[in-house]
Amino acid sequence: MANLKEEIMTRRTFAIISHPDAGKTTITEQMLLLGGVVRSAGTVKGRQGNFAKSDWMAIEQKRGISVTSSVLQFDFDGKRINILDTPGHEDFSEDTYRTLMAVDSVIMVVDSAKGIEPQTKKLFEIVKERHIPIFTFFNKLDRDGRPPMDLVDELETTLGINAYPMNWPIGSGQILAGLFDLYHHQVEVYRPANESERFLPLNAEGTDLAQANALQQTPAWQESQEEVELLQDAGNAFNEEAVLKGELTPVFFGSALAGFGLETFLRTYLKFAPAPSSKQTVDHQIVEPTNPEFSGFVFKIQANMNPNHRDRIAFVRIVSGEFERGMDVTLQRTGKKLRLSNVTQFMADSRENVENAVPGDIIGVYDTGNFQIGDTIYAGKPAITFEELPTFTPELFMHVRAKNVLKQKSFHKGVTQLVQEGTIQMYTAWDSGDYILGAVGQLQFEVFQFRMENEYNSEVVLEPMGPKIARWISSDQLDPRMASSRNLLVRDRADQPVFLFENMFAERWFADKYPDVTLEAKL
Ligand code: G4P
Repeated sequence: MANLKEEIMTRRTFAIISHPDAGKTTITEQMLLLGGVVRSAGTVKGRQGNFAKSDWMAIEQKRGISVTSSVLQFDFDGKRINILDTPGHEDFSEDTYRTLMAVDSVIMVVDSAKGIEPQTKKLFEIVKERHIPIFTFFNKLDRDGRPPMDLVDELETTLGINAYPMNWPIGSGQILAGLFDLYHHQVEVYRPANESERFLPLNAEGTDLAQANALQQTPAWQESQEEVELLQDAGNAFNEEAVLKGELTPVFFGSALAGFGLETFLRTYLKFAPAPSSKQTVDHQIVEPTNPEFSGFVFKIQANMNPNHRDRIAFVRIVSGEFERGMDVTLQRTGKKLRLSNVTQFMADSRENVENAVPGDIIGVYDTGNFQIGDTIYAGKPAITFEELPTFTPELFMHVRAKNVLKQKSFHKGVTQLVQEGTIQMYTAWDSGDYILGAVGQLQFEVFQFRMENEYNSEVVLEPMGPKIARWISSDQLDPRMASSRNLLVRDRADQPVFLFENMFAERWFADKYPDVTLEAKL
């Protein structure tokens, strides 16, 4: 590759987080339209078109998710963009969280009629913990929404982050007239009479149009103008460093469906979104993307649910150096050498022709069982071991056992393997030793059950235990008598004690009764 550094600087790798129905798919489609990858909206996942072709995993297929929509790569405005999908709703799983470990920034899409919803909040917490830059898009401005001041206020108080409006709506729904584009010092007109009136310059103060226009007579104009003045006087100052540390979120309004404000958003976002970042190893070395030796880590493994094909695909985020098809790498955990010849890359329009990839890019490595989630691969010397991916606190639990008691061996083999792979988490009841599975989303149980039957020939019986609050405590603070019917004591894979509380009240009761015991949540 001519110049690795220049190539890396063009990469922008991000995920869109949102609550279901906020408009993530619509925004993705609009971005692909802007990138010239699709010619009409309605082609991404589950709808008619290009990206629903996957033949990977029956369950995912049934739900209309596909490998090809797991990562979408396209070019826009001189940048090569990698969008990583964060499946939500019934498809929510630990993979959704883990994907956030492989991006450099995040776009948070919020429905402007609904405000911050639970799933957005959950995903936001992970993003915040990692200090990933986050950009907010309040969507559906073409509908009557909540007052923008309320939305920004809620964003700041609910999520505990400062916000900086980059644009400000002039009305919404029926009276939507445009956007004060504060960053570009212009107004973007909603449905202009002609193209030359789409962008109108602002005056020097940035609070009014430079030249008189009919827009100033529209019903929402005055209120919006007053709010802009207020923001200028009393709002947060823009600070790029704070954005890059994830302490300040630039806020945009628009309508994905109407394609309004989205192009300006994407261009502005790409200006501030960081290029691929460095990554820390277990021994606190920093691996820079420009390091010429190839390295990467596995953040997701997608199994083929066809029992005749045991192959799987491991999603690798490239951290440093250049990937070339056919290169040899070392799998750090086992020390095994592997040749990366059977690799998929995710170019939304021409997947076959890409032979090289650089930091920020995702490659899909066909795998016959070598990889686990969190694995490091590297070429050259010295050895590199990236920090482990975090474990997330499961919220759903089920008892699990083999249907056929005589088939314990394949049951144990399957469970061990799938837990190691990161498909699901495993706990054992402190007293009885019963197996308990933990997950963040229902889909994980379904995948587990399906794979146990198809890959390990082991039918399993799952009994829901309902949602629980899992809290770790240190072994020396534990007294098994602390367990009760409302707080089940289990051990995790590392033999650490964990209490599964029935609900918040049970947890509070416990905390009151044992004030010296520290209850800890994972991420
Ligand atoms: P998701 O991926 O976040 O779940 O949301 P998705 O884009 O599928 O959007 C959810 C619904 O909201 C869709 O309507 C979509 O058309 C609509 N929507 C998205 N952005 C906007 C917007 O800016 N304005 C308005 N008014 N609606 C928007 P649907 O009827 O549920 O689906 P469909 O039949 O249109 O596909």
